Amino acid sequence: MRTIRDLDLHQRRVFIRVDFNVPVKDGQVTDDTRIRASVPTIQLAREKGAKVILASHLGRPKGAPEAKYSLQPVVPVLSEHLGAPVRFAPDCVGPEVEKLVAELQPGEVLLLENLRFHAGEEKNDEAFARQLAALAEVYVNDAFGTAHRAHASTAGMAAFIPERGVGLLMERELEYLGKALHAPEHPYVAILGGAKVSDKIEVIDKMLDVADAVLIGGAMAYTFLKARGIEIGRSLVEEDKLDVARALESKAQARNVRLHLPTDHVVGDLARPELEPQTVSVTATPPDLAGYDIGPETIAAYQSEIATARMIVWNGPMGIFEQPRYAAGTNAIAAAVAAAEAISIVGGGDSVAAINAAGLGDRITHVSTGGGASLEFLSGIELPGVAALR
Ligand code: 3PG
Repeated sequence: MRTIRDLDLHQRRVFIRVDFNVPVKDGQVTDDTRIRASVPTIQLAREKGAKVILASHLGRPKGAPEAKYSLQPVVPVLSEHLGAPVRFAPDCVGPEVEKLVAELQPGEVLLLENLRFHAGEEKNDEAFARQLAALAEVYVNDAFGTAHRAHASTAGMAAFIPERGVGLLMERELEYLGKALHAPEHPYVAILGGAKVSDKIEVIDKMLDVADAVLIGGAMAYTFLKARGIEIGRSLVEEDKLDVARALESKAQARNVRLHLPTDHVVGDLARPELEPQTVSVTATPPDLAGYDIGPETIAAYQSEIATARMIVWNGPMGIFEQPRYAAGTNAIAAAVAAAEAISIVGGGDSVAAINAAGLGDRITHVSTGGGASLEFLSGIELPGVAALR
């Protein structure tokens, strides 16, 4: 697969699919991580003399313009990071956009309006993909966070632009996550959290092929515990996934992978905030309470796996970490991963938020910009946005 470094961009119109799906509140970008992550690719394109056309989605508009999903708030933020003006097109296709593109000079940047204001984007409609492709001579996909979507701008249009390749962010994401999947260092520890087993079955299954230890946290641990016959009070359980949990446990045993479940946890009742959370063994869970975080004994066990690892992948929080009283487990894991000597890769919105909130982002080898995309990649699924570039 070619990268932007290999492509001749000089004086050419270069369409770069970025992932600027950033949080916006009252017309202001509240987290510019994804914008910053795309800057090296855009700067390289400018240095190579490209006429840069940037395109992204933001949010989930229903195939028609909606002011709250406009990409306009990205313009000043991007312009500041680039140290250069950024023009804005009021649409992503059509005569006005074509005129703005035709006026672009080498080194200049034009950001198109939200791709999802057209239904053809998510439908991967061929006519829409051709319209996008007609804007440019070179196609670069740097939108790793959206690479799991087979949309017109991430997949369809690539077929109509033979000169194509990945951007620097996509290249870095594929390099680290590819290593985690195909060439990990050992001992290799995968930490998987979050609310639902159903969201993580594939990645747990894949990690049981490649990792030496899998540490489970978050509410999904309760489906595993219940499958072992442990009474876990009112903790969240996916009753229809008990068999899946048992099958994953059997696989771990057969493959000699240490599959860790919490042995203690912090229980309470979200509907009765006046109740003080208590730490109890998972086998002593009061029937009227639910678990919302891993406990100190579990933290210690997970810390010792993390401390001896040479490679760590983490996706998903250990509890309801948005609530300070249930955040200790997630924060302790974030600190342990950051302190480890290992190559560390963190993906998924919540775990990345926990790392960033603790100011530990620069102690992690690779913080992925992809939530769903990193999860699908680590499940061994080929991402449509990557496949389209071959
Ligand atoms: C993300 O934030 O995960 C990506 O930008 C994809 O967004 P989507 O889930 O709305 O397709």
